[in-house]
Amino acid sequence: MYILAIESSCDDTSGAIVENGSKVISCVTESQRRLHNQFGGVVPEVAARGHLDSIFRVMRKTLEHANININKIDAVAVTFTPGLIGPLLVGVNFAKGFALARGIPVIGVNHIKAHVAANYIENSELTPPFLCLVVSGGHTSLIKIINYTEFILIGQTRDDAVGEVFDKIARNLGLGYPGGAALDKLAEIGNNQKFKFTIPRLDNLDFSFSGMKTKAMQYMQNAQNFDSEAFKNDLAASVRETIVKYLTQNLILAAGILNIKKISVAGGVASNSYLKKKIYEMCIKKGLEFYAPSPKYCTDNAAMIGIQGYFEYINGNISDLKLNAYASGSPESKI
Ligand code: KG4
Ligand code: ZN
Repeated sequence: MYILAIESSCDDTSGAIVENGSKVISCVTESQRRLHNQFGGVVPEVAARGHLDSIFRVMRKTLEHANININKIDAVAVTFTPGLIGPLLVGVNFAKGFALARGIPVIGVNHIKAHVAANYIENSELTPPFLCLVVSGGHTSLIKIINYTEFILIGQTRDDAVGEVFDKIARNLGLGYPGGAALDKLAEIGNNQKFKFTIPRLDNLDFSFSGMKTKAMQYMQNAQNFDSEAFKNDLAASVRETIVKYLTQNLILAAGILNIKKISVAGGVASNSYLKKKIYEMCIKKGLEFYAPSPKYCTDNAAMIGIQGYFEYINGNISDLKLNAYASGSPESKI
């Protein structure tokens, strides 16, 4: 079965063709990074127009790269929630138009569930149940994957998403937008004990990052040597150390409480090699299996939409031409 998949929930326009929910035949992504860099963040209206500019080109390239006849496409899968409403509507309407023209079904896919599904692309041995930490620019969620389509939320951020924290600090350090990866680079050469940050104590497995973000801003405001390389490297290393410790701690704690032996990560921040290294080390210590997608499948891409779309399809979660887009949507809901 061939699924044409579309992702347009934020600032990446992506198309993919996925075979039988496992093999990525083609995946083409156009990033709007340059468009939003000047504003220091994603401007929803600009993003929606950016998707309109990109979508036909991206989808044409996706079909060309796959080198398969358009008649072979059996269904179209599209992110319909959560995300920015204007950008989502561009993808959803393209998907509905394509489905109508070809006489094939349309499958609405939850973006967070798709991030989790990115793990299956290169880890065919990974099967539910398992635990997944989804960390991206918009989400920080600890999820129990019961089966391919049923998820239970174990914890989530009460304020900022972890990627948002990396991006905000990076922007204030003059690293551009989104600066998570650039901050990660500086952190490699900084002293991670230079600045003190505390991990909040909550009464469950939720996260909170606003205190850390405020503390980082205070260090920046009070710095005598703000422009020095050493200050930036040390702040990046110290904040990364605390965030990684916090994420790892809750993930391992949840695995213990729920008695789950397989854990995974997903989302843009999961491309952080230090985070993966620390979680992997903990997994070795605790006798847990650890899975992660490669960086190209951590950040937003349509291949993961095609994978999750396949599982929704075979479980009968098929949408129709009334499919709409929603800014918020829990991975716990049926589709
Ligand atoms: O999954 P994604 O592409 O988009 C959302 O669904 O939000 O994630 C983008 C986020 C941005 O916040 C970006 O700064 C962050 O992932 N990111 C990183 C790294 N690479 C990307 N954060 C920390 N370290 C990295 N190496
Ligand atoms: Zn995402």
